[in-house]
Amino acid sequence: MTTTPDFLVIAIDGGAASGKSTTARKLAEELDLMHVDTGSYYRSLTAAILEKGINPDDSRLESFLDSASLSTRIGNRSGTLLLEGVSFPQEVLRSEKVNANVSSFAALPMVRKKLFDYQRNQVLVAQENGFSGLVMEGRDIGSVIFPDARVRVFLHADPAVRSSRRAAQGENDAIEARDKTDSTRATAPLTCPDGATSIDTGSSTVEEVVELISQLVQSRQTP
Ligand code: DC
Repeated sequence: MTTTPDFLVIAIDGGAASGKSTTARKLAEELDLMHVDTGSYYRSLTAAILEKGINPDDSRLESFLDSASLSTRIGNRSGTLLLEGVSFPQEVLRSEKVNANVSSFAALPMVRKKLFDYQRNQVLVAQENGFSGLVMEGRDIGSVIFPDARVRVFLHADPAVRSSRRAAQGENDAIEARDKTDSTRATAPLTCPDGATSIDTGSSTVEEVVELISQLVQSRQTP
């Protein structure tokens, strides 16, 4: 994987419903960058595993992951993970079943290993598609996937604000339970990495948050 110094990577991490996707999409649009929602990649892998009837402690998981072929389709500047060339519809990715299981699979080192290189390779996908940078959102982007990203931010908001966002989206999602699993797992836990900028999205508008991150990008422009 090659990143040139002028290829811009913006890492956005945060818990469930912390405002990552809305912020990341808008930022990518304003700065003309590729957008990658790595949560959707974990959701796709989880949906495929569940479809096969495989549990987290099932011995078939390893061989499934070894043979699963991953690729990316870009639509509307966002990457979608394809498994064997096929993507899952949003209704499946955001279903109650995937919401309830994704954190357990995401806690498994073999699942994270499968997606580690793939996520870093999104730089190549972005470059091949003519983008000068990417905005990647997730839980461990600024800590593990791109610790050297030019800009790393950590979004957070009050639990009540986050629950009402999910309710407004019509989703049944136990966000606090998911955050607990995501923050306490041994491998690549959800955390605000050292040196990242922490932003409360409950007390600012999306536009203000995007503006703040754009200013960080400008202040760290390579000469
Ligand atoms: O962002 P999201 O809620 O769609 O993410 C779904 C799950 O995927 C989340 O509970 C934890 C996992 N995840 C992760 O472990 N690491 C990432 N970089 C992104 C998501």
